[in-house]
Amino acid sequence: MAIRSILHYPDPRLRRRAEPVAAVTAEVRRLVDDMAETMYDAPGVGLAAIQISEPWRVVVIDISETRDRLQVFINPGILSDEGEQSFEEGCLSLPGIFEEVTRAARIRVRALDRDGQPFETDAEGLLATCLQHEIDHLDGKVFVDYLSRLKQSRIRKKIEKQQRLVM
Ligand code: NI
Repeated sequence: MAIRSILHYPDPRLRRRAEPVAAVTAEVRRLVDDMAETMYDAPGVGLAAIQISEPWRVVVIDISETRDRLQVFINPGILSDEGEQSFEEGCLSLPGIFEEVTRAARIRVRALDRDGQPFETDAEGLLATCLQHEIDHLDGKVFVDYLSRLKQSRIRKKIEKQQRLVM
């Protein structure tokens, strides 16, 4: 396992559309393990492969307090969604930026697990928001895309300023 470096917005590589995984091979499992290690180290509650510059449809999530409930979603797809909820979201690719985003409150998701076995699950609350946030990454989307143009340009300026101050 290895901790990988995380791309930061507005890196154009975050805008790529990730490809479906054709078969869950040992190489894919290595990617999953690297992603988990990178997410726990950051620390974050979710990470999409595209954020470490691997354009595959792979997501890892752990929303537990104890940080020992890893959930792996390979080729995730949302089968249905219901209701609305708002959470203040952050992203490992946008350090220091937190904004409220409204998404579906309940979703049903289909995916493959780390062993390549298909499963379906119902998610609500934080897990529902987190899954939608991570699946967006696989389509080249980041959470600030949901904000007004004015807010997006303020965030871009703030990030440029942060980058200038890094020595
Ligand atoms: Ni993110």
